[in-house]
Amino acid sequence: MSLPTQVKIVEVGPRDGLQNEKETISAEVKIELVDRLTNAGFVNIEAASFVSPKWVPQMATSAEVMAGIQRKAGVIYSALTPNMKGFEAALAAGADEVVIFSSASEAFAQKNINCSIAESIERFRDVAAAANQHKIRLRGSISCAFGCPYQGEVTPEQVADVVKLMRDLGCDEIDIADTIGVGTPCHVQAVMQRVAQEFPIAQISGHFHDTYGQALANIYASMEVGVSIFHSSVAGLGGCPYAKGATGNVATEDVLFMMQGLGVHTGIDLNQVVDAGQFISQHLGRKAVSRAGNAIAAKRLA
Ligand code: HMG
Ligand code: MG
Repeated sequence: MSLPTQVKIVEVGPRDGLQNEKETISAEVKIELVDRLTNAGFVNIEAASFVSPKWVPQMATSAEVMAGIQRKAGVIYSALTPNMKGFEAALAAGADEVVIFSSASEAFAQKNINCSIAESIERFRDVAAAANQHKIRLRGSISCAFGCPYQGEVTPEQVADVVKLMRDLGCDEIDIADTIGVGTPCHVQAVMQRVAQEFPIAQISGHFHDTYGQALANIYASMEVGVSIFHSSVAGLGGCPYAKGATGNVATEDVLFMMQGLGVHTGIDLNQVVDAGQFISQHLGRKAVSRAGNAIAAKRLA
């Protein structure tokens, strides 16, 4: 199959990227990050997470962030909502899309959301109905689709089972997430092809972490089998608090550089993303993890 001519890049840095930071980042800095990303041209930004602040303290300012950002018409600002309490908060904050999240691995579901996969789906039923009632987009995210830090192997069949459950809840989009970055291209294609039997491939996204350096290869492999939505994180920010050793999502700058080279349209201004990556990295006091971002920033100084 030939590559898609255009892809949607969902920027997850303000949520997935920052959630694991130990030092509290002010709402002002998060707002500036989201605004910079909006200006760079993303059509979907994961900006907030209405989860328990005891579980993920860094996301406790999510309402403030959502209230402070400058929204651009047509841009979807998403928020994680593990239950109705999260949904009510997301609704009040004006989220355009709510994200329910479970796992292809039982062990990870227990660690991350303190319940089984089946129990999580039961909790999401109310969230899905409320999203439908309020005409808010619903996205389902499936962690550990290629391997689990606690249980090890995860089969394509196990991923497909959760895809079916999320499809039946009425999800508009479903993320196949490599939380610990262990997927490799042929494995990724096998999973994507299996889940595409259950849910339209045009509404499936690839959420890759670069822990083992496979993320760009996995994105390319996914495009070869028809996936055209990808998640990435500016400056390669990230890691999951419930997956020890998990590094960041694939860096947005690296994905955009690859897409540019392939002639795949994204609608996003790479230079502005590089600026946003340098901004947040300076704030965090460390170098960005994006190779392309750092190379472009260095070239500017030369
Ligand atoms: P629990 O302790 O089983 O729930 O947690 P609970 O209902 O017993 O509530 C405990 C306390 O949390 C109560 O407060 C609730 O009110 C409060 P208390 O009475 O003790 O003061 N609470 C909430 N507060 C704010 N917002 C809420 C909320 N819900 C309950 N929505 C729960 C269950 C699901 C809440 C918890 O496990 C949780 O918040 N987990 C979230 C973990 C998380 O955010 N992980 C990271 C996101 S997933 C991820 O990063 C992976 C992904 O990016 C894909 C990938 O990268 O692979 C999606
Ligand atoms: Mg992630």
